[in-house]
Amino acid sequence: MLRFGLIGAGKAGELHAHAIGASRRAKFVWIADPDRARGEALAERYGARHLSDFKEGLGDVDAVSVCAPHHMLAGIAVTVAQAGRHMVLEKPMAISLREADTVLAAARSASVTLMVGFVHRYRPDVARAYELVQSGVIGAPRFVVDRTANGDLGTWPDWVLRSQNGGGLLMYSGVHRVDRARWFLGQNVLSVHGSTASLVENTDVDSSTAALLICDRGGRASLTQHFHVHDIPFTWETDIHGTEGMIRIRTGHGIDIWTRGSTRTEPAGQDRKFEGEIEAFIDKLEGKPVVIPTGEDGRAVLAIALGVIESSRIGQSIRL
Ligand SMILES: NC(=O)c1ccc[n+]([C@@H]2O[C@H](COP(=O)([O-])OP(=O)(O)OC[C@H]3O[C@@H](n4cnc5c(N)ncnc54)[C@H](O)[C@@H]3O)[C@@H](O)[C@H]2O)c1
Repeated sequence: MLRFGLIGAGKAGELHAHAIGASRRAKFVWIADPDRARGEALAERYGARHLSDFKEGLGDVDAVSVCAPHHMLAGIAVTVAQAGRHMVLEKPMAISLREADTVLAAARSASVTLMVGFVHRYRPDVARAYELVQSGVIGAPRFVVDRTANGDLGTWPDWVLRSQNGGGLLMYSGVHRVDRARWFLGQNVLSVHGSTASLVENTDVDSSTAALLICDRGGRASLTQHFHVHDIPFTWETDIHGTEGMIRIRTGHGIDIWTRGSTRTEPAGQDRKFEGEIEAFIDKLEGKPVVIPTGEDGRAVLAIALGVIESSRIGQSIRL
């Protein structure tokens, strides 16, 4: 039984808590959040202890999930690593590359497992598309086109709407799209060109992004996302174009596969991505041969996201 703690009982914390609570291989020990009412309510739901300060509980657990606001992630992660505890660290892991490097160095020097929370990899439709790409049905992946629109900006925590907190749509949500593109292409991104815009009142962060990523072995990705405060139809499609065909993920609905002379559709399957993420993390700790999103993946994605923001600011491509 892996003894687990959870740091941050907000939106993501609730999803991690559900997955930790559901695992037969995890024992939920505590939930830390300085917001007492929030922390206590979630802890009570899972029969865990509430802590105001996570540092008090690090001696009692083997691993933690870190679900704090972006500007706090790196500092917390370094403390957790220095205490020798394994962790699932929410994206984007840090708000600068220098911070990300301190997290990587602390995790390496303490030999702890660091998984960055690119949970979309555990969506059944995304995971199936990845499996198909790996099996070669569309040949070599060359171009990923990812398009998202949503109307839930009004439900986001206040801290996300300020750049000093590492907020904004790209850092809060777009990093998942960047991770997917890198993952499907299996290539390193060399340069980015981006345009971000803030279409929300009283905020200095982006709520709309268009980005082009160019990879080292000819792969490219085009990512667009546009979020509204008010309700609009939810759109989320990812196309993976290969040398022999194409896969389209219609998120939550299914995947379409076009290869030479054939077309077929598969259903999306039930979305249990947070459970999948926690189970993969435990598999990794148990020494099973699973590949998880690493701290290095997190740093690479952060470099791309920060590059897109900088590219938009200066109006030029950025070489990473
Ligand atoms: N993977 C996903 O689908 C997903 C979804 C939402 C958020 N996230 C990520 O989760 C993280 C948190 O975002 P959120 O939306 O849950 O924010 P949130 O504001 O809803 O929750 C953050 C919580 O952290 C608490 N907190 C602040 N400092 C703390 C500390 N020192 N120790 C413990 N708790 C502390 C806050 O009181 C708050 O309750 C971010 O990295 C975000 O990008 C991921």
